[in-house]
Amino acid sequence: MITDARALRPIFIPSELHHRDGEIEHLSSCLKPIQQNLSGQNTLITGPSGAGKTTLAQYTVGQLKSATLSVRSGYVNCLSDSSMSGAFHALFRDAGLGIDLSLESASTTQYLDKLRHLDEHMVVILDEVDVLADPSVIVSLWEEPHITLLMVCVDEDDFLSNADSRVSSRVRSAEKIRLQKYHSDELVDIIEARVVAGLQHGAADHSTISRIAELAAGDARLAIAFLRRAAERAQREGLDTLSPGLVEDVVDDAETDVQERNIQRLSTHQQILHDIVRENGEIAAGDLREEYEKRAQNPKSETTRRRYLQSLERYDLIEQIGATRGTYYRYSKP
Ligand SMILES: Nc1ncnc2c1ncn2[C@@H]1O[C@H](COP(=O)(O)OP(=O)(O)OP(=O)(O)O)[C@@H](O)[C@H]1O
Ligand SMILES: [Mg+2]
Repeated sequence: MITDARALRPIFIPSELHHRDGEIEHLSSCLKPIQQNLSGQNTLITGPSGAGKTTLAQYTVGQLKSATLSVRSGYVNCLSDSSMSGAFHALFRDAGLGIDLSLESASTTQYLDKLRHLDEHMVVILDEVDVLADPSVIVSLWEEPHITLLMVCVDEDDFLSNADSRVSSRVRSAEKIRLQKYHSDELVDIIEARVVAGLQHGAADHSTISRIAELAAGDARLAIAFLRRAAERAQREGLDTLSPGLVEDVVDDAETDVQERNIQRLSTHQQILHDIVRENGEIAAGDLREEYEKRAQNPKSETTRRRYLQSLERYDLIEQIGATRGTYYRYSKP
């Protein structure tokens, strides 16, 4: 059944990005000046989970590197490395810049000093940029003329609502690429390519692929999770082909895979609110506020807290029931 498991993994960078030609062109034009040794345009890529933001950034930077000799790139997932020194360390490691600076002792100035003396242009991808504990990393990198920043997050407003004015004024002036959810027929093409790359010939027919696309509702990450879980199940059961019914059987497992990843990328305060709703199943807005203020070290204002709750709704982690008086929140089971 499975011939190449890599093609079913979420971090796999496909050799072809389907249905993103316009966006690839847009991002390439932001990076084009680098080919003439000029500064590229700092860019913010946003869009819902599974819209292909991370892949778009990595794929387009890969194309630039194949076409240009003296360009370097570095990828940081701010979720894993959210502190200033963690982000710089990850950046140096990924960019292949010999690190003679130790994670514990190096200062921001030392990292910046090294970057300043690079004689190549560098493209820095800051993925999940909204979870940076210290967004001044953005300000520091922004000031360097031979660094081009590609920032990635789900929602620009969520991101800016937590950023100070030095960060937000810069981010507002960045070029914006906003990705939309995929249409069902676009997802069909994406899944079909994964079937060809990762599964035995003829393992999934059109009705199975269409069912996956329908269930994934525009989210390529979820679609690939359905395909992976279904193929694993088929392999275990010794089946030669997948079927719509088999896909339906793995919906819960695949949704849990994706939901767990979305939970991991919440910021501390979002995480606290999330945990309270999850533990309670359902909780009145007033009780949620009280519990949050008890648990958070420096509780955020009512407005910020409401924004966090909205972003949890956007990630399909919680649901708000009722409006104004009598509002309560319910945990969304995957
Ligand atoms: N246009 C596409 N063609 C082929 N594969 C795609 C395409 N878009 C997304 N994918 C695949 O779908 C999965 C999710 O894409 P990606 O990680 O880029 O989404 P994202 O927008 O960064 O989501 P998140 O916000 O959850 O990080 C990846 O495995 C990626 O390879
Ligand atoms: Mg991503």
